[in-house]
Amino acid sequence: MRPWKRILRGLLFWTLVVVAFGGLLTALVLVGQAPIPEDATYIGSDACGACHWRAHGGWQDSLHPKMMRRVDEPGVVVADFAAKEMPFDPKQAVWAIGSRFEQQFMGHDGKTETLLPGSWQVDKGKWNVKGWDGWDVPIPLQRCHGCHTVGLDVKTGHFVEPGIGCESCHGPGSWHRNTLGFGAIASTLDAQVCGQCHTRGLSTDGKYFFPVGYRIGERLEDHFRESPPTLGQNSAEWWGNGREHKRHQEYWPWKQGGHSHSLKSLTEGYDGRYGEIAPACLRCHAAEAAANPRRDFTLDQVRHGITCAVCHNVHGGLDKQRFRCDYCHERGAYFHRSERNAGHVVCGDDAKVTCVDCHMPLTGKNGGGLHLHTHYPGIVPPSDAAKYGAPSSCANGACHADKDATWLQAAFDGHYR
Ligand code: HEC
Ligand code: HEC
Ligand code: HEC
Ligand code: HEC
Ligand code: HEC
Ligand code: HEC
Ligand code: HEC
Ligand code: HEC
Repeated sequence: MRPWKRILRGLLFWTLVVVAFGGLLTALVLVGQAPIPEDATYIGSDACGACHWRAHGGWQDSLHPKMMRRVDEPGVVVADFAAKEMPFDPKQAVWAIGSRFEQQFMGHDGKTETLLPGSWQVDKGKWNVKGWDGWDVPIPLQRCHGCHTVGLDVKTGHFVEPGIGCESCHGPGSWHRNTLGFGAIASTLDAQVCGQCHTRGLSTDGKYFFPVGYRIGERLEDHFRESPPTLGQNSAEWWGNGREHKRHQEYWPWKQGGHSHSLKSLTEGYDGRYGEIAPACLRCHAAEAAANPRRDFTLDQVRHGITCAVCHNVHGGLDKQRFRCDYCHERGAYFHRSERNAGHVVCGDDAKVTCVDCHMPLTGKNGGGLHLHTHYPGIVPPSDAAKYGAPSSCANGACHADKDATWLQAAFDGHYR
């Protein structure tokens, strides 16, 4: 071959390579910038696990995917199906719901898919058959599935995956998967993601006990009406002091507390009392900065206060704190006014009382007792026990359970007022 021909060919080859590569790069950039298509569909968590094996492994070990499982899988049923007071025919059970504090069952009674009567209380090791409200409505579809499955279609009752999957928090993933991860997928520290399920209320049409048609990134309130407490009045769900009495209500109390407002404290009406607002402030006051401590954020790069995903590991170890309280409350309770920390914990060091013991006491019932921590961080004074029967910060769990409310309130006033 003549040398000039070889050079020409080489040139042509490399031009093609560059053009193809440039085209691919442009296509990828365009794909990456495109919004998630409206018709993106749910594909199930196993499809995500193919590329995100670490997140998948952690998630698999947590309770989220275990919320709704078939009873014929080994180890799923923790209830005693041989108990004397067994409330239904075990042959009817198809799905087991929950396992930690309480387990319920869904199945077919021949006519309709239904919630079977009774619930197994894990702590007491017995069946509770009180409060059963009928067989004839398709209860799971109207009242349960929206929070216990992924990709529910309320018109058909079809869902893509039982339990809480990747797409419960990241939205439908078909576009992201089909573009080999270059196309977008929702990912945010916004507490509304968790608020979809860790709440109580009705869909906007009043038919369902969960948000219908909500996509991550939208406003939850456009799809859901929360049912908050009436202050001063006990109800089945709430104590009169606004603390959770029933399960799955962390979202509303969190919104009332200082953590949800911690960014607003800097952006609304801050008078400069602790110095100028700098990236260092955001490490404790904004979710994005707290979650990425090695990066410096400015005020216009952050959007959220201390949200659920700041304190909780969303993938592995849901039940373990991602950041402990003293990550931010590093000088004790008060970071800015640390002189106030002396004598803060009146019980003394030997008592080994933690911030959570006093500031997030167990007020919420799940299973046979109060096992859930209030998510409105603050003190429940003993006088609330007298007024509402609500557990106080002082008689929390085993602490001072032997003392009556009058004694406790006097001691409380003596120390803290
Ligand atoms: C074909 C491989 C592949 C599959 C399948 C896949 N991803 Fe990804 N994903 C990627 C790549 C590549 C990135 C970008 C690199 C990175 O940030 O890790 C990414 C990034 C992400 C991010 C970060 C996005 C951001 O804006 O910060 C999330 C969240 C995510 N994927 C979730 C999922 C979920 C949920 C699924 C299943 C519905 C899934 N992925 C399926 C490859 C994949
Ligand atoms: C309970 C909600 C929830 C579930 C379930 C969940 N994620 Fe996430 N994920 C989040 C949140 C919130 C973030 C943002 C965390 C942050 O910025 O620190 C995130 C971040 C990510 C990221 C970005 C990189 C990282 O690890 O921070 C990837 C990738 C990801 N998730 C993949 C997955 C996959 C795959 C699954 C399923 C196996 C899954 N997620 C399940 C809430 C969830
Ligand atoms: C699709 C509904 C849904 C979403 C979205 C959701 N959760 Fe959950 N979550 C549940 C259910 C149901 C359980 C109960 C699981 C069980 O006990 O088996 C649960 C349990 C938990 C637990 C207790 C787990 C344990 O091991 O003790 C924590 C903590 C938690 N969720 C935090 C979060 C956070 C943080 C988010 C948002 C990033 C979130 N959840 C989003 C439904 C959801
Ligand atoms: C609005 C969302 C939502 C709806 C609707 C909902 N749940 Fe749940 N459920 C949750 C969340 C979140 C938890 C975790 C509770 C917590 O830790 O506060 C939970 C916990 C449970 C538990 C205890 C699990 C355990 O491991 O201890 C059972 C049992 C349960 N739900 C059954 C049901 C049944 C049956 C229905 C329908 C009648 C239903 N739920 C409707 C969100 C919901
Ligand atoms: C990522 C940082 C961070 C973590 C982790 C954190 N806090 Fe806070 N906390 C703050 C900030 C910032 C404020 C001040 C909010 C404001 O008023 O702007 C605050 C306020 C408070 C308050 C007073 C506020 C109120 O009005 O509700 C209590 C009580 C509290 N935190 C307890 C806790 C407990 C208990 C833990 C651990 C379970 C914890 N905090 C973990 C940053 C944090
Ligand atoms: C190490 C974590 C941390 C850092 C850094 C931090 N804060 Fe705070 N901030 C807190 C905590 C904890 C509270 C609530 C308890 C208290 O009063 O100390 C709080 C409360 C506040 C409040 C509201 C309540 C009050 O006490 O007036 C404002 C305003 C505030 N901080 C501003 C700032 C500014 C401005 C910066 C940066 C110059 C900053 N913070 C840096 C942890 C932090
Ligand atoms: C023995 C119980 C107890 C323990 C343990 C405890 N606190 Fe407190 N804390 C209180 C009481 C009581 C108050 C005063 C509340 C009041 O005046 O209503 C308080 C007040 C506070 C405040 C100011 C509240 C506000 O509304 O501005 C913050 C912030 C705080 N504590 C954080 C913490 C943190 C963080 C820890 C763990 C390092 C902790 N506390 C440990 C009992 C406790
Ligand atoms: C300031 C930190 C903090 C924030 C913010 C926070 N949590 Fe928690 N959460 C905790 C602690 C501490 C526990 C008790 C777990 C333990 O230490 O055993 C807990 C427990 C839970 C549990 C298990 C049941 C229980 O009460 O023990 C659920 C479910 C939960 N949180 C959901 C949420 C949701 C949803 C949000 C946001 C709306 C949220 N959390 C925000 C600190 C936090």
